[in-house]
Amino acid sequence: MKYRIFKNETKISQMGLGFMRLPVIDGDNARIDEEKAEEMALYAYENGVNYFDSAYAYHGHMSEKFVGKIVQKNNLRDKVYLATKMPVWLAKAPEDYDRLLDEQLANLQTDYVDFYLLHSLGAGFWNNVEKQELFAFMERAKRDGRVKNIGFSFHDNIPVFKQIIDAYTWDFCQIQLNYMDENYQAGIEGLKYAADKGIFVVIMEPLKGGRLGTMLSNTMQAVFDKNDVALKPAALAMKYLFDKSEVGCVLTGASTLEQLKENVATAKTCDVGDLTDNEKQAIQELEAFYNARTKVPCTGCLYCIDDCPQRIPINIVFSLYNGRYMYENDTMAKIQYYAHVSEARRPDQCLDCGICEERCPQGIAIREKLKEAQADLESI
Ligand SMILES: NC(=O)c1ccc[n+]([C@@H]2O[C@H](COP(=O)([O-])OP(=O)(O)OC[C@H]3O[C@@H](n4cnc5c(N)ncnc54)[C@H](OP(=O)(O)O)[C@@H]3O)[C@@H](O)[C@H]2O)c1
Repeated sequence: MKYRIFKNETKISQMGLGFMRLPVIDGDNARIDEEKAEEMALYAYENGVNYFDSAYAYHGHMSEKFVGKIVQKNNLRDKVYLATKMPVWLAKAPEDYDRLLDEQLANLQTDYVDFYLLHSLGAGFWNNVEKQELFAFMERAKRDGRVKNIGFSFHDNIPVFKQIIDAYTWDFCQIQLNYMDENYQAGIEGLKYAADKGIFVVIMEPLKGGRLGTMLSNTMQAVFDKNDVALKPAALAMKYLFDKSEVGCVLTGASTLEQLKENVATAKTCDVGDLTDNEKQAIQELEAFYNARTKVPCTGCLYCIDDCPQRIPINIVFSLYNGRYMYENDTMAKIQYYAHVSEARRPDQCLDCGICEERCPQGIAIREKLKEAQADLESI
């Protein structure tokens, strides 16, 4: 494994393991397949990964508990850095900050979190929060040792990102970045802005939630062939990030051991400045490929699903809608739509409550796009 340096002294593996898309049982996001997920975590650790990223909200609140369990069981507490995130939307009063952190420490079966993030910040939270109380909590948590480093994860535009970066002496931050998102949310400008200030930058969604990880069609394969790029799509997307000196740690969201093995192999071999001209050219052409075919910029993070009163499988509907155009295969899109989206869960069952849109980190007009997707998929 290759390592990058945090604060002049700490070696962090250039790839960390995300605990948000673990294998699950019967498609139930809250039922982690612990045997498989533990095997993945141990494989990552044994191959040099020393940064584990969880959050209160992941896997229906089961992710932190799972991390706590396997770290304890395998005696890993002083061998990996634990990162987790406070669900700021649940903090209604200042005393909630301490209550939530203490609950998270109990979930993780530890006395301290190495990297503690305010989860999914954007203008909505930032402009309304009482900052003195928030900063006082952060200082207190560091002083009493419950938290070693404070940061935030981010989903909004670049002016908001700079405003948050400038407001506090953050130890690190976490942004969404991949070759499709250079000018989206914090983007490359945000990466450089934070890195210039000495803030360690952790990357999430390196494969845009998975969409950059698969060879989708002959048209896409032709881009690789024409540019003589022998890497698999996921390896190319990860290599693009390891190539950047401003990147601190790239989180993989692998959901199978096979994917993880491939990503570990990439993280072991790729370094700053390794991306070739041919690979850069292929990436430019792939961007054009994806841009022409993406109907909805959903990354399948599932933040929208938990509170949907109709349990509409929003991520699946959008994935099928995009998939129709990406895979260039109408028959497959039609079969999968009727197989995976039951009549009772179709978009026309939406009650228009809009809760999903409040939760979406990508700012998607979900209700409108659901209607569009249903009309499109049912027209095949
Ligand atoms: N703070 C936040 O707001 C936030 C938001 C998002 C993520 N995160 C953190 O960042 C981590 C990484 O983000 P992410 O999960 O979105 O990462 P990602 O790597 O962009 O997406 C993960 C998905 O990519 C696919 N994949 C991974 N490796 C692959 C490979 N080698 N070949 C083919 N497909 C591959 C899998 O999708 P398939 O299901 O298609 O196989 C997997 O579920 C998360 O796990 C989480 O810890 C934080």
